[in-house]
Amino acid sequence: MTRCDRTSAWAELNAHFAERGCSLDLRQAFAADATRFERFSLQAPEVFADLSKNLVDAPTFDLLLQLADQCGLPAQRDALLRGDIVNATEGRAVLHTALRAPRGAGPFSDEVHGVLDAMLDYAERVRADGAITDIVNIGIGGSDLGPQMVVPALDAYTQPLLQRLHFVSNVDGHDITPLLKRLDPRHTLFIVASKTFTTQETMANAHAARDWFLSAGGSHIEKHFAATTTNVEAAAEFGIHTTFGFWDWVGGRYSLWSAIGLPIAIAIGATHFRALLAGAHAMDQHFAQAPLAQNLPVLLGLLDVWYRNFHGFTSRSVAPYHQGLKRLPAYLQQLEMESNGKRVDVAGAALPYGTSPVVWGEPGTNGQHAYFQMLHQGTDVIPVEFIAVKTAAHTLADQHHKLLANCLAQSQALMLGKTADEAQGEKAPTAAAGFDPAVLAKHRSFPGNRPSTTLMLEALTPRSLGALIALYEHRVFTSGALWGINSFDQWGVELGKALCNQLLPRLSSGNTDGLDGSTAGLLKKLRS
Ligand code: F6P
Repeated sequence: MTRCDRTSAWAELNAHFAERGCSLDLRQAFAADATRFERFSLQAPEVFADLSKNLVDAPTFDLLLQLADQCGLPAQRDALLRGDIVNATEGRAVLHTALRAPRGAGPFSDEVHGVLDAMLDYAERVRADGAITDIVNIGIGGSDLGPQMVVPALDAYTQPLLQRLHFVSNVDGHDITPLLKRLDPRHTLFIVASKTFTTQETMANAHAARDWFLSAGGSHIEKHFAATTTNVEAAAEFGIHTTFGFWDWVGGRYSLWSAIGLPIAIAIGATHFRALLAGAHAMDQHFAQAPLAQNLPVLLGLLDVWYRNFHGFTSRSVAPYHQGLKRLPAYLQQLEMESNGKRVDVAGAALPYGTSPVVWGEPGTNGQHAYFQMLHQGTDVIPVEFIAVKTAAHTLADQHHKLLANCLAQSQALMLGKTADEAQGEKAPTAAAGFDPAVLAKHRSFPGNRPSTTLMLEALTPRSLGALIALYEHRVFTSGALWGINSFDQWGVELGKALCNQLLPRLSSGNTDGLDGSTAGLLKKLRS
Protein backbone atom coordinates (compact mmCIF):
# COMPACT_ATOMS: atom_id res chain seq x y z
CA MET A 1 0.00 0.00 0.00
CA THR A 2 1.36 3.40 -0.97
CA ARG A 3 0.10 6.72 0.34
CA CYS A 4 -1.52 8.81 -2.41
CA ASP A 5 1.00 11.68 -2.29
CA ARG A 6 3.91 9.25 -2.80
CA THR A 7 2.70 8.01 -6.19
CA SER A 8 3.62 9.27 -9.63
CA ALA A 9 -0.10 9.60 -10.44
CA TRP A 10 -0.39 12.20 -7.66
CA ALA A 11 2.29 14.34 -9.27
CA GLU A 12 0.65 13.90 -12.67
CA LEU A 13 -2.73 14.85 -11.21
CA ASN A 14 -1.18 18.01 -9.78
CA ALA A 15 0.21 18.92 -13.20
CA HIS A 16 -3.06 18.02 -14.90
CA PHE A 17 -5.02 20.12 -12.41
CA ALA A 18 -2.77 23.15 -12.94
CA GLU A 19 -2.86 22.81 -16.74
CA ARG A 20 -6.53 22.18 -17.40
CA GLY A 21 -8.30 20.44 -14.51
CA CYS A 22 -8.81 23.68 -12.60
CA SER A 23 -10.42 25.43 -15.52
CA LEU A 24 -12.71 22.73 -16.86
CA ASP A 25 -15.99 24.30 -17.90
CA LEU A 26 -18.96 21.97 -17.73
CA ARG A 27 -21.03 23.92 -20.25
CA GLN A 28 -18.24 23.71 -22.79
CA ALA A 29 -17.60 20.06 -21.96
CA PHE A 30 -21.22 19.18 -22.72
CA ALA A 31 -21.19 21.31 -25.88
CA ALA A 32 -18.05 19.55 -27.09
CA ASP A 33 -19.21 16.04 -26.33
CA ALA A 34 -22.75 14.93 -27.09
CA THR A 35 -22.06 11.63 -25.34
CA ARG A 36 -20.78 13.09 -22.09
CA PHE A 37 -23.82 11.90 -20.12
CA GLU A 38 -23.44 8.32 -21.41
CA ARG A 39 -19.67 8.35 -20.91
CA PHE A 40 -19.85 9.61 -17.35
CA SER A 41 -22.83 7.70 -16.02
CA LEU A 42 -22.99 4.24 -14.61
CA GLN A 43 -25.50 1.63 -13.49
CA ALA A 44 -24.46 -0.17 -10.31
CA PRO A 45 -26.75 -2.58 -8.43
CA GLU A 46 -29.94 -0.64 -7.64
CA VAL A 47 -28.20 2.73 -8.07
CA PHE A 48 -27.74 4.69 -11.27
CA ALA A 49 -25.17 7.48 -11.08
CA ASP A 50 -24.82 10.51 -13.31
CA LEU A 51 -21.28 11.77 -12.81
CA SER A 52 -21.31 13.94 -15.94
CA LYS A 53 -21.90 17.19 -14.06
CA ASN A 54 -18.61 16.80 -12.21
CA LEU A 55 -15.46 18.80 -12.93
CA VAL A 56 -13.72 15.91 -14.64
CA ASP A 57 -12.78 14.82 -18.10
CA ALA A 58 -11.52 11.47 -19.38
CA PRO A 59 -7.83 12.23 -18.60
CA THR A 60 -8.79 13.18 -15.04
CA PHE A 61 -10.52 9.87 -14.51
CA ASP A 62 -7.62 8.01 -16.14
CA LEU A 63 -5.17 9.59 -13.72
CA LEU A 64 -7.43 9.03 -10.72
CA LEU A 65 -7.73 5.37 -11.68
CA GLN A 66 -3.95 5.15 -11.95
CA LEU A 67 -3.78 6.72 -8.49
CA ALA A 68 -6.11 4.03 -7.12
CA ASP A 69 -3.98 1.37 -8.70
CA GLN A 70 -0.67 2.82 -7.46
CA CYS A 71 -2.09 3.14 -3.93
CA GLY A 72 -2.90 -0.58 -4.03
CA LEU A 73 -6.63 0.00 -3.67
CA PRO A 74 -7.63 -3.45 -5.06
CA ALA A 75 -5.30 -5.20 -2.60
CA GLN A 76 -6.55 -3.03 0.29
CA ARG A 77 -10.15 -3.80 -0.67
CA ASP A 78 -9.42 -7.52 -0.86
CA ALA A 79 -7.75 -7.42 2.57
CA LEU A 80 -10.84 -5.71 4.00
CA LEU A 81 -13.24 -8.24 2.50
CA ARG A 82 -11.04 -11.19 3.49
CA GLY A 83 -11.09 -10.17 7.14
CA ASP A 84 -7.47 -9.06 7.58
CA ILE A 85 -6.76 -6.84 10.58
CA VAL A 86 -7.25 -3.57 8.67
CA ASN A 87 -8.14 -1.64 11.84
CA ALA A 88 -4.59 -1.88 13.14
CA THR A 89 -4.84 0.54 16.08
CA GLU A 90 -7.61 -1.56 17.60
CA GLY A 91 -6.27 -4.86 16.26
CA ARG A 92 -9.55 -5.71 14.52
CA ALA A 93 -10.85 -7.02 11.25
CA VAL A 94 -13.65 -5.00 9.66
CA LEU A 95 -16.28 -7.35 8.35
CA HIS A 96 -19.64 -5.62 8.10
CA THR A 97 -19.80 -7.18 4.62
CA ALA A 98 -19.97 -10.61 6.31
CA LEU A 99 -23.23 -9.55 7.98
CA ARG A 100 -24.99 -9.39 4.63
CA ALA A 101 -23.38 -12.33 2.86
CA PRO A 102 -25.79 -15.17 2.08
CA ARG A 103 -25.81 -18.16 4.40
CA GLY A 104 -22.65 -20.19 3.92
CA ALA A 105 -20.96 -17.54 1.80
CA GLY A 106 -18.98 -15.17 4.01
CA PRO A 107 -16.61 -15.37 6.95
CA PHE A 108 -18.26 -16.29 10.29
CA SER A 109 -21.36 -17.37 8.39
CA ASP A 110 -22.67 -19.74 11.08
CA GLU A 111 -22.37 -17.13 13.84
CA VAL A 112 -23.79 -14.34 11.68
CA HIS A 113 -26.79 -16.33 10.48
CA GLY A 114 -27.39 -17.84 13.91
CA VAL A 115 -27.85 -14.37 15.46
CA LEU A 116 -29.71 -13.07 12.41
CA ASP A 117 -32.25 -15.90 12.54
CA ALA A 118 -32.77 -15.44 16.27
CA MET A 119 -33.04 -11.66 15.97
CA LEU A 120 -35.53 -11.84 13.10
CA ASP A 121 -37.57 -14.48 14.89
CA TYR A 122 -37.75 -12.20 17.94
CA ALA A 123 -38.65 -9.22 15.72
CA GLU A 124 -41.54 -11.18 14.21
CA ARG A 125 -42.77 -12.16 17.67
CA VAL A 126 -42.68 -8.53 18.81
CA ARG A 127 -44.56 -7.50 15.66
CA ALA A 128 -47.22 -10.09 16.40
CA ASP A 129 -47.45 -9.15 20.08
CA GLY A 130 -50.61 -7.07 20.30
CA ALA A 131 -49.64 -5.90 23.79
CA ILE A 132 -46.54 -4.03 22.62
CA THR A 133 -47.54 -0.74 21.03
CA ASP A 134 -44.32 1.27 21.51
CA ILE A 135 -40.70 0.32 20.94
CA VAL A 136 -37.95 2.60 22.20
CA ASN A 137 -34.41 2.19 20.88
CA ILE A 138 -31.92 3.61 23.37
CA GLY A 139 -28.53 4.04 21.72
CA ILE A 140 -26.24 6.70 20.27
CA GLY A 141 -23.91 7.11 17.29
CA GLY A 142 -23.78 3.90 15.31
CA SER A 143 -26.25 2.29 17.69
CA ASP A 144 -28.83 4.89 16.76
CA LEU A 145 -28.18 6.67 13.48
CA GLY A 146 -28.54 3.65 11.17
CA PRO A 147 -31.90 2.43 12.49
CA GLN A 148 -33.08 6.01 12.91
CA MET A 149 -32.30 6.66 9.26
CA VAL A 150 -33.65 3.40 7.80
CA VAL A 151 -36.97 3.19 9.68
CA PRO A 152 -38.50 6.36 8.18
CA ALA A 153 -36.89 5.65 4.81
CA LEU A 154 -38.79 2.37 4.63
CA ASP A 155 -42.00 3.76 6.05
CA ALA A 156 -43.90 2.24 3.13
CA TYR A 157 -42.85 -1.18 4.41
CA THR A 158 -43.72 -0.65 8.06
CA GLN A 159 -46.96 -1.39 9.83
CA PRO A 160 -47.45 1.89 11.67
CA LEU A 161 -50.79 0.87 13.14
CA LEU A 162 -49.23 -2.05 14.94
CA GLN A 163 -46.31 -0.35 16.68
CA ARG A 164 -44.68 3.02 17.08
CA LEU A 165 -40.89 3.25 17.06
CA HIS A 166 -39.03 5.88 19.05
CA PHE A 167 -35.33 6.70 19.25
CA VAL A 168 -33.65 8.14 22.32
CA SER A 169 -29.98 9.00 22.06
CA ASN A 170 -29.03 12.22 23.84
CA VAL A 171 -27.84 12.25 27.45
CA ASP A 172 -29.92 15.40 27.68
CA GLY A 173 -32.93 14.41 29.77
CA HIS A 174 -35.07 16.49 27.43
CA ASP A 175 -34.80 13.60 24.97
CA ILE A 176 -36.28 10.77 27.05
CA THR A 177 -38.50 12.70 29.48
CA PRO A 178 -41.24 13.84 27.09
CA LEU A 179 -41.32 10.39 25.52
CA LEU A 180 -41.74 8.57 28.83
CA LYS A 181 -44.71 10.82 29.62
CA ARG A 182 -46.53 9.36 26.63
CA LEU A 183 -45.71 5.69 27.27
CA ASP A 184 -47.43 2.93 29.18
CA PRO A 185 -45.00 0.42 30.73
CA ARG A 186 -47.38 -2.47 30.00
CA HIS A 187 -47.20 -1.76 26.28
CA THR A 188 -43.58 -0.65 25.83
CA LEU A 189 -40.46 -2.52 24.77
CA PHE A 190 -37.08 -0.88 25.37
CA ILE A 191 -34.10 -1.96 23.27
CA VAL A 192 -30.80 -0.93 24.82
CA ALA A 193 -28.44 -0.77 21.85
CA SER A 194 -24.77 -0.40 22.63
CA LYS A 195 -21.80 -2.22 21.20
CA THR A 196 -19.83 -1.70 24.40
CA PHE A 197 -22.72 -1.36 26.88
CA THR A 198 -20.66 1.31 28.63
CA THR A 199 -21.50 4.46 26.66
CA GLN A 200 -22.41 7.22 29.11
CA GLU A 201 -25.45 8.53 27.23
CA THR A 202 -26.96 5.11 26.58
CA MET A 203 -26.42 3.83 30.08
CA ALA A 204 -27.92 6.98 31.59
CA ASN A 205 -31.01 6.66 29.40
CA ALA A 206 -31.26 2.92 30.05
CA HIS A 207 -31.23 3.55 33.80
CA ALA A 208 -33.82 6.31 33.42
CA ALA A 209 -36.02 3.96 31.37
CA ARG A 210 -35.70 1.14 33.90
CA ASP A 211 -36.41 3.46 36.86
CA TRP A 212 -39.47 4.86 35.09
CA PHE A 213 -40.65 1.37 34.14
CA LEU A 214 -40.53 0.14 37.71
CA SER A 215 -41.95 3.31 39.26
CA ALA A 216 -44.79 3.43 36.72
CA GLY A 217 -45.91 -0.02 37.77
CA GLY A 218 -44.16 -2.07 35.11
CA SER A 219 -43.48 -5.71 35.77
CA HIS A 220 -41.82 -8.56 33.86
CA ILE A 221 -38.73 -6.56 32.98
CA GLU A 222 -37.51 -9.55 30.96
CA LYS A 223 -40.40 -9.03 28.54
CA HIS A 224 -39.99 -5.27 28.25
CA PHE A 225 -36.22 -4.86 27.89
CA ALA A 226 -33.92 -6.32 25.25
CA ALA A 227 -30.30 -5.49 24.45
CA THR A 228 -28.21 -5.53 21.29
CA THR A 229 -24.55 -5.59 22.26
CA THR A 230 -21.20 -7.32 22.10
CA ASN A 231 -21.12 -7.12 25.92
CA VAL A 232 -23.81 -9.63 26.87
CA GLU A 233 -22.40 -9.95 30.42
CA ALA A 234 -22.87 -6.24 31.13
CA ALA A 235 -26.42 -6.40 29.76
CA ALA A 236 -27.15 -9.35 32.05
CA GLU A 237 -25.74 -7.43 35.01
CA PHE A 238 -28.10 -4.60 34.14
CA GLY A 239 -30.94 -7.10 34.28
CA ILE A 240 -31.53 -7.74 30.60
CA HIS A 241 -31.56 -11.34 29.51
CA THR A 242 -33.04 -11.02 26.02
CA THR A 243 -29.84 -10.16 24.19
CA PHE A 244 -28.67 -10.31 20.60
CA GLY A 245 -24.94 -10.20 20.20
CA PHE A 246 -22.47 -9.13 17.58
CA TRP A 247 -18.72 -9.00 17.28
CA ASP A 248 -15.79 -6.62 17.68
CA TRP A 249 -15.25 -6.76 13.91
CA VAL A 250 -18.48 -4.80 13.41
CA GLY A 251 -17.69 -1.09 13.72
CA GLY A 252 -20.40 1.00 15.40
CA ARG A 253 -21.05 3.09 12.30
CA TYR A 254 -21.24 -0.06 10.17
CA SER A 255 -23.55 -1.96 12.51
CA LEU A 256 -27.09 -1.48 11.24
CA TRP A 257 -26.77 -4.84 9.46
CA SER A 258 -26.13 -6.63 12.77
CA ALA A 259 -28.38 -7.07 15.81
CA ILE A 260 -28.28 -3.26 16.04
CA GLY A 261 -30.80 -3.44 13.17
CA LEU A 262 -33.42 -4.94 15.50
CA PRO A 263 -35.67 -1.83 15.44
CA ILE A 264 -35.52 -1.93 11.64
CA ALA A 265 -36.49 -5.61 11.65
CA ILE A 266 -39.40 -4.89 13.97
CA ALA A 267 -40.51 -2.05 11.72
CA ILE A 268 -40.30 -3.83 8.37
CA GLY A 269 -40.30 -7.54 9.25
CA ALA A 270 -37.89 -10.36 8.54
CA THR A 271 -38.43 -10.65 4.78
CA HIS A 272 -37.79 -6.97 4.12
CA PHE A 273 -34.80 -6.96 6.50
CA ARG A 274 -33.30 -9.79 4.49
CA ALA A 275 -33.93 -7.75 1.32
CA LEU A 276 -32.03 -4.83 2.89
CA LEU A 277 -29.09 -7.18 3.50
CA ALA A 278 -29.36 -8.59 -0.02
CA GLY A 279 -29.19 -5.11 -1.56
CA ALA A 280 -26.07 -4.32 0.43
CA HIS A 281 -24.55 -7.65 -0.59
CA ALA A 282 -25.21 -6.89 -4.26
CA MET A 283 -23.24 -3.64 -3.83
CA ASP A 284 -20.49 -5.53 -1.97
CA GLN A 285 -20.09 -7.83 -4.93
CA HIS A 286 -20.00 -4.91 -7.33
CA PHE A 287 -17.31 -3.28 -5.20
CA ALA A 288 -15.35 -6.54 -5.01
CA GLN A 289 -15.59 -7.49 -8.66
CA ALA A 290 -16.28 -4.59 -11.02
CA PRO A 291 -13.22 -3.17 -12.79
CA LEU A 292 -12.15 0.06 -11.09
CA ALA A 293 -13.28 2.16 -14.05
CA GLN A 294 -16.84 0.83 -13.72
CA ASN A 295 -16.87 0.53 -9.96
CA LEU A 296 -19.24 3.12 -8.55
CA PRO A 297 -17.98 3.31 -4.95
CA VAL A 298 -14.44 3.58 -6.30
CA LEU A 299 -15.35 6.36 -8.74
CA LEU A 300 -17.17 8.33 -6.03
CA GLY A 301 -14.23 7.91 -3.65
CA LEU A 302 -11.85 9.10 -6.37
CA LEU A 303 -14.01 12.15 -7.03
CA ASP A 304 -13.89 12.90 -3.31
CA VAL A 305 -10.08 12.87 -3.42
CA TRP A 306 -10.08 15.01 -6.58
CA TYR A 307 -12.31 17.63 -5.00
CA ARG A 308 -10.72 17.61 -1.55
CA ASN A 309 -7.05 17.53 -2.51
CA PHE A 310 -6.84 19.21 -5.91
CA HIS A 311 -9.78 21.63 -5.99
CA GLY A 312 -9.48 22.18 -2.24
CA PHE A 313 -13.23 21.90 -1.59
CA THR A 314 -13.80 21.37 2.11
CA SER A 315 -17.39 20.18 2.18
CA ARG A 316 -19.95 18.16 0.28
CA SER A 317 -23.68 18.63 0.51
CA VAL A 318 -26.10 15.71 0.27
CA ALA A 319 -29.60 16.44 -0.96
CA PRO A 320 -31.89 13.42 -0.90
CA TYR A 321 -35.06 14.26 -2.82
CA HIS A 322 -37.10 11.88 -0.70
CA GLN A 323 -38.50 12.90 2.65
CA GLY A 324 -37.98 9.36 3.95
CA LEU A 325 -34.23 9.98 3.67
CA LYS A 326 -34.37 12.96 6.02
CA ARG A 327 -31.87 11.37 8.41
CA LEU A 328 -29.45 10.28 5.69
CA PRO A 329 -27.19 13.35 6.02
CA ALA A 330 -26.83 12.79 9.78
CA TYR A 331 -26.10 9.11 9.18
CA LEU A 332 -23.49 10.00 6.55
CA GLN A 333 -21.87 12.50 8.87
CA GLN A 334 -20.91 9.73 11.25
CA LEU A 335 -20.07 7.28 8.48
CA GLU A 336 -17.77 9.64 6.66
CA MET A 337 -16.47 12.09 9.23
CA GLU A 338 -15.87 9.58 12.03
CA SER A 339 -14.20 7.26 9.52
CA ASN A 340 -12.07 9.71 7.58
CA GLY A 341 -11.72 12.70 9.89
CA LYS A 342 -8.09 11.79 10.59
CA ARG A 343 -4.86 13.77 10.50
CA VAL A 344 -2.20 11.05 10.58
CA ASP A 345 -1.62 8.09 8.28
CA VAL A 346 -1.63 4.45 9.41
CA ALA A 347 2.03 4.80 10.39
CA GLY A 348 1.25 7.85 12.53
CA ALA A 349 2.86 10.40 10.19
CA ALA A 350 1.12 13.78 9.94
CA LEU A 351 -0.69 14.13 6.63
CA PRO A 352 0.29 16.97 4.30
CA TYR A 353 -3.19 17.02 2.67
CA GLY A 354 -6.83 17.28 3.68
CA THR A 355 -8.99 14.28 4.50
CA SER A 356 -12.72 14.04 5.23
CA PRO A 357 -14.80 16.90 3.92
CA VAL A 358 -17.65 18.22 6.02
CA VAL A 359 -20.75 16.31 4.96
CA TRP A 360 -24.06 18.04 5.45
CA GLY A 361 -27.48 18.47 3.96
CA GLU A 362 -31.24 18.32 4.18
CA PRO A 363 -33.89 16.65 2.07
CA GLY A 364 -34.99 18.45 -1.08
CA THR A 365 -36.93 20.58 -1.57
CA ASN A 366 -36.57 21.91 2.00
CA GLY A 367 -32.89 22.72 1.58
CA GLN A 368 -33.69 24.89 -1.44
CA HIS A 369 -35.48 27.32 0.86
CA ALA A 370 -32.61 27.45 3.33
CA TYR A 371 -29.01 27.13 2.20
CA PHE A 372 -29.19 26.57 -1.57
CA GLN A 373 -28.72 30.33 -2.00
CA MET A 374 -25.17 29.79 -0.78
CA LEU A 375 -24.63 26.77 -3.01
CA HIS A 376 -25.60 28.83 -6.06
CA GLN A 377 -24.10 32.22 -5.31
CA GLY A 378 -21.82 31.86 -2.29
CA THR A 379 -18.07 32.30 -2.49
CA ASP A 380 -17.29 28.62 -1.88
CA VAL A 381 -17.82 25.85 -4.37
CA ILE A 382 -19.54 22.91 -2.67
CA PRO A 383 -20.14 19.75 -4.68
CA VAL A 384 -23.70 18.55 -4.21
CA GLU A 385 -24.95 14.99 -4.28
CA PHE A 386 -28.57 14.71 -5.37
CA ILE A 387 -30.51 11.52 -4.71
CA ALA A 388 -33.60 11.08 -6.86
CA VAL A 389 -36.13 8.29 -6.55
CA LYS A 390 -38.03 7.58 -9.76
CA THR A 391 -41.16 5.96 -8.33
CA ALA A 392 -42.95 7.31 -5.29
CA ALA A 393 -44.62 5.20 -2.62
CA HIS A 394 -47.63 7.55 -2.54
CA THR A 395 -50.34 8.41 -5.03
CA LEU A 396 -49.73 12.17 -5.26
CA ALA A 397 -48.28 11.91 -8.76
CA ASP A 398 -48.32 15.64 -9.38
CA GLN A 399 -46.30 16.32 -6.24
CA HIS A 400 -43.81 13.65 -7.21
CA HIS A 401 -43.31 15.29 -10.61
CA LYS A 402 -42.77 18.61 -8.89
CA LEU A 403 -40.20 17.02 -6.58
CA LEU A 404 -38.28 15.46 -9.47
CA ALA A 405 -38.42 18.64 -11.55
CA ASN A 406 -36.96 20.54 -8.60
CA CYS A 407 -34.19 18.00 -8.24
CA LEU A 408 -33.22 18.22 -11.91
CA ALA A 409 -33.53 22.00 -11.90
CA GLN A 410 -31.10 22.43 -9.04
CA SER A 411 -28.26 20.47 -10.60
CA GLN A 412 -28.98 22.20 -13.90
CA ALA A 413 -28.88 25.65 -12.27
CA LEU A 414 -25.66 24.85 -10.42
CA MET A 415 -24.03 23.83 -13.69
CA LEU A 416 -25.45 26.37 -16.14
CA GLY A 417 -25.55 29.44 -13.95
CA LYS A 418 -26.64 32.72 -15.48
CA THR A 419 -24.46 35.51 -16.87
CA ALA A 420 -24.96 39.14 -15.93
CA ASP A 421 -26.03 39.81 -19.55
CA GLU A 422 -28.67 37.11 -19.34
CA ALA A 423 -29.83 38.49 -16.01
CA GLN A 424 -30.03 42.03 -17.38
CA GLY A 425 -32.14 40.84 -20.27
CA GLU A 426 -34.78 39.50 -17.90
CA LYS A 427 -37.60 41.14 -15.99
CA ALA A 428 -37.12 41.20 -12.22
CA PRO A 429 -40.55 42.11 -10.87
CA THR A 430 -39.48 42.16 -7.23
CA ALA A 431 -36.46 44.44 -7.79
CA ALA A 432 -36.53 47.94 -6.30
CA ALA A 433 -37.88 50.51 -8.75
CA GLY A 434 -35.08 52.58 -10.20
CA PHE A 435 -32.28 50.29 -9.02
CA ASP A 436 -29.36 50.41 -11.44
CA PRO A 437 -30.04 47.50 -13.90
CA ALA A 438 -26.32 46.76 -14.40
CA VAL A 439 -25.71 46.45 -10.66
CA LEU A 440 -28.90 44.46 -10.22
CA ALA A 441 -27.71 42.03 -12.91
CA LYS A 442 -24.60 41.36 -10.85
CA HIS A 443 -26.75 40.39 -7.87
CA ARG A 444 -28.92 38.22 -10.08
CA SER A 445 -26.19 36.38 -11.96
CA PHE A 446 -24.92 32.90 -11.11
CA PRO A 447 -21.38 31.73 -11.82
CA GLY A 448 -22.49 28.19 -12.70
CA ASN A 449 -19.96 25.44 -13.35
CA ARG A 450 -20.71 24.12 -9.86
CA PRO A 451 -20.37 20.34 -9.73
CA SER A 452 -22.92 17.77 -8.70
CA THR A 453 -23.60 14.06 -8.84
CA THR A 454 -27.08 12.61 -9.19
CA LEU A 455 -27.75 9.17 -7.79
CA MET A 456 -31.01 7.64 -8.90
CA LEU A 457 -33.03 4.74 -7.51
CA GLU A 458 -36.02 3.16 -9.25
CA ALA A 459 -37.86 3.14 -5.91
CA LEU A 460 -36.89 3.39 -2.27
CA THR A 461 -37.13 -0.27 -1.27
CA PRO A 462 -35.30 -2.32 1.35
CA ARG A 463 -33.08 -3.70 -1.39
CA SER A 464 -32.23 -0.37 -3.01
CA LEU A 465 -31.64 1.31 0.34
CA GLY A 466 -29.30 -1.51 1.35
CA ALA A 467 -27.35 -1.01 -1.86
CA LEU A 468 -27.24 2.77 -1.41
CA ILE A 469 -25.86 2.56 2.13
CA ALA A 470 -23.25 -0.04 1.12
CA LEU A 471 -22.27 2.25 -1.76
CA TYR A 472 -21.51 5.01 0.74
CA GLU A 473 -19.60 2.64 3.03
CA HIS A 474 -17.30 1.50 0.21
CA ARG A 475 -16.85 5.00 -1.12
CA VAL A 476 -15.65 6.13 2.31
CA PHE A 477 -13.30 3.15 2.40
CA THR A 478 -11.93 4.10 -1.02
CA SER A 479 -11.02 7.68 -0.14
CA GLY A 480 -9.67 6.58 3.26
CA ALA A 481 -7.49 3.92 1.61
CA LEU A 482 -6.04 6.46 -0.83
CA TRP A 483 -5.38 8.89 1.99
CA GLY A 484 -3.54 6.11 3.83
CA ILE A 485 -5.55 6.47 7.01
CA ASN A 486 -7.27 4.01 9.32
CA SER A 487 -10.95 4.61 8.52
CA PHE A 488 -12.10 2.27 11.26
CA ASP A 489 -10.92 3.72 14.56
CA GLN A 490 -12.24 6.89 16.26
CA TRP A 491 -9.69 8.06 18.84
CA GLY A 492 -10.89 11.61 18.31
CA VAL A 493 -13.95 10.99 20.45
CA GLU A 494 -11.92 9.90 23.49
CA LEU A 495 -10.52 13.15 24.87
CA GLY A 496 -13.90 14.82 25.32
CA LYS A 497 -15.28 11.70 27.01
CA ALA A 498 -12.36 11.60 29.47
CA LEU A 499 -12.58 15.31 30.28
CA CYS A 500 -16.34 14.99 30.78
CA ASN A 501 -15.75 12.27 33.36
CA GLN A 502 -13.29 14.54 35.16
CA LEU A 503 -15.66 17.52 35.08
CA LEU A 504 -18.74 15.64 36.21
CA PRO A 505 -17.88 15.58 39.95
CA ARG A 506 -16.78 19.22 39.76
CA LEU A 507 -20.30 20.21 38.69
CA SER A 508 -21.50 19.03 42.12
CA SER A 509 -18.50 20.04 44.20
CA GLY A 510 -17.74 23.32 42.49
CA ASN A 511 -14.02 22.58 42.71
CA THR A 512 -12.25 24.49 39.94
CA ASP A 513 -8.68 23.80 41.07
CA GLY A 514 -6.29 23.36 38.16
CA LEU A 515 -8.90 24.15 35.48
CA ASP A 516 -8.20 26.57 32.65
CA GLY A 517 -9.73 30.03 33.16
CA SER A 518 -12.57 29.68 30.70
CA THR A 519 -13.77 26.27 31.89
CA ALA A 520 -13.49 27.40 35.53
CA GLY A 521 -15.45 30.58 34.75
CA LEU A 522 -18.20 28.70 32.91
CA LEU A 523 -18.46 26.10 35.66
CA LYS A 524 -18.82 28.81 38.33
CA LYS A 525 -21.50 30.51 36.26
CA LEU A 526 -23.43 27.26 35.81
CA ARG A 527 -23.39 26.74 39.57
CA SER A 528 -24.23 30.31 40.57
O1 F6P B 1 -18.90 8.28 19.55
C1 F6P B 1 -18.05 7.22 19.57
C2 F6P B 1 -18.74 5.89 19.45
O2 F6P B 1 -17.82 4.94 19.90
C3 F6P B 1 -19.24 5.55 18.06
O3 F6P B 1 -18.23 5.11 17.23
C4 F6P B 1 -20.26 4.54 18.38
O4 F6P B 1 -21.08 4.30 17.29
C5 F6P B 1 -20.95 5.20 19.53
O5 F6P B 1 -19.90 5.80 20.26
C6 F6P B 1 -21.79 4.32 20.41
O6 F6P B 1 -21.06 3.31 21.00
P1 F6P B 1 -21.76 2.06 21.67
O7 F6P B 1 -22.52 1.34 20.61
O8 F6P B 1 -20.66 1.22 22.24
O9 F6P B 1 -22.69 2.56 22.74
